[in-house]
Amino acid sequence: MKTADIPFDMVVVGATGDLGRRKLLPALYFLHKYGKISPDGRIFAISRREGSREGFLARAGESARGHIGEAELTDEDWGSFAERLHFVTLSATEAETYAPLNDLLAGGEERARVFYLATSPRLYVDISRAIAEAGLVTDQTRIVLEKPIGTDLASAAAINAGVGAVFDERQIFRIDHYLGKETVQNLMAVRFGNILFEPMWRAEKVDHVQITVAETLGVEGRGGYYDQSGALRDMIQNHILQLLCLTAMEPPAHLDQDDIREEKIKVLRALRPFTMEDLGKKTVRGQYRLGAIAGETVPGYLEEPDVDEDSSTETFVALKAEIDNWRWAGVPFYLRTGKRMGHRVSEIVIQLKPVPHQLFESRAGGIQPNRLVIRLQPDEFIKMSLMTKVPGAGMVLQRSDLDLNLASRRGGRAFQAYERLLLDVIRGVTTLFMHRTEVEAAWRWVEPILDGWRQLGDRPRSYSAGTWGPPKSIGLVERDGRSWYEHIVEAGR
Ligand code: BG6
Repeated sequence: MKTADIPFDMVVVGATGDLGRRKLLPALYFLHKYGKISPDGRIFAISRREGSREGFLARAGESARGHIGEAELTDEDWGSFAERLHFVTLSATEAETYAPLNDLLAGGEERARVFYLATSPRLYVDISRAIAEAGLVTDQTRIVLEKPIGTDLASAAAINAGVGAVFDERQIFRIDHYLGKETVQNLMAVRFGNILFEPMWRAEKVDHVQITVAETLGVEGRGGYYDQSGALRDMIQNHILQLLCLTAMEPPAHLDQDDIREEKIKVLRALRPFTMEDLGKKTVRGQYRLGAIAGETVPGYLEEPDVDEDSSTETFVALKAEIDNWRWAGVPFYLRTGKRMGHRVSEIVIQLKPVPHQLFESRAGGIQPNRLVIRLQPDEFIKMSLMTKVPGAGMVLQRSDLDLNLASRRGGRAFQAYERLLLDVIRGVTTLFMHRTEVEAAWRWVEPILDGWRQLGDRPRSYSAGTWGPPKSIGLVERDGRSWYEHIVEAGR
C-alpha cells in the first residue's frame, strides 16, 4: 500500500514546543500539501495547558510562517492542513486525564496510530506507561522518541527498558533525523551500489576521514536544555556517530534495520576508548563568546537566556577518533561540531593517500591525493577530486572534480529529513531508526569522555562566534601533518 493510502492518527505530545513548531508541523504540512499522506490522517496536538483549538491554530499558523517559507505557505493549503489538526488538553504522564483522547481515537484501532513524543526524554517512560494504562496501545501503534535518549548510559538504558516494557522494539522509532537526510542515504547508495569505491574504502587507501557539522545558529531559546547537554551529547553521541557508522561500516547483507544495525554496532564497539591522557591530546572543547556572523553581532554563550552565567558547557567539540578493526586500523576520523561558527556546513571528507610514485612534474599545488567530499548541507553533493591533464602541450596536471550534483539531478521538490522519517513511521518501516543497542553502544563510548572531562575539570576554550572554533582544534589535525578541509580549499589544494 502506498503511504498516501494509509489512514493514521498521529498524537504529538509537545507539539507546541521548539521541535514541534520548527520541524514537525512544517514537515506534516509539506506532506499534506504534496499529497504524501492520506487525506484521512488526523493529527492531535497534546498540551497540558488549557487552551482552545483556535488559539493553537493561530499560534501554529504564526510559527509556520517563519519555518515554511512564504512561497510554500498558501492560505488554501494551510486551511486544508489545519482541518487535520486537533487540540487536546491532557497531562501526558497521567492516564486518568486521557479520556478526551480516548474518545477521539475510538473506532480507529485499525489505523496506524503514532505517538510522537517531542518532550523531555525524562518523561518518555511515564508517558509510555500512561498511554498503555489509558488502553491506547493497539497492534498498529508506534511510538516515536526524539533524541537525546538519556544523558548517559544508565539513563538511556532506563528509558529503553521502561519504554520497552510497554512497546515491542518493532513499535519503537528512535529518531536521528540525520538518517533521514537525502545525502546520508546517498552515501549508502554510492558505497554499496558501485564496485568502484569498495577497494579504496579502507586503511590501505584512505589517509583520514573528517566529519564536520558546523552551525551558525546558537542555542535558539533552548538554553535550559542545551546547558545541561553540550555539543558532545547533543551532536556527537547521535548524529555524528551515525555518520561515522555509515561511513565506516561493512556492507550489510540486506537493507533492513537488523542487518544495518549489526554493522553499525560493530563500528561503535571498535571505537578506541580515550584514556585520560588522550583526552588532553585528542579532544578539544570550546564555548563561543561574542562575535559576528555574516556581519551581525551575536552574543556569547554565557549571555544566552537560561544559560548559567558560569557555565562550562561546550558548544564546540573536535575529536580524533580511531577505529580498531582490520579495515580502519591507523586511519584517524576527525570529528567536529560547533554552534555559532562562521559557516553552516555538514560534510564528510574521505581523504585518500597520495600516489606511491610521482610520475608528473608538479606545478603549483603539486599532484593532489584524491578526495571524496560528501556534503549534506546547506547544499548537497558528492564530489570526487581527480588529477587530469591540462589541455595543450606538455604533461601538466590539474585537479578536476567529478561532481555528482545530487540536488540538480533529482528534479521536483526535495524531501526534508523529517518528512521522510514521518512517512516511514506511518508505514512502520524501522530501517532509518536507531535500535536500543545502538544508542547504548554510542553512550558506552561517549560517557567516559564526559567523565574524563569532568575529572580534568578544565573549562572549554573560548572561541569568537563566527570562527571555526578554538585554535587548538586546528592543532589537533595539523599536529598530524593534515588540515581541516576548509584550509585545504583556501590553500587551493
Ligand atoms: C538537533 C540538535 O538534533 O540537531 C540541535 O539538538 C541542532 O542543537 C540540530 O541544531 C541540527 O540539525 P540540522 O538538521 O539543522 O543540521
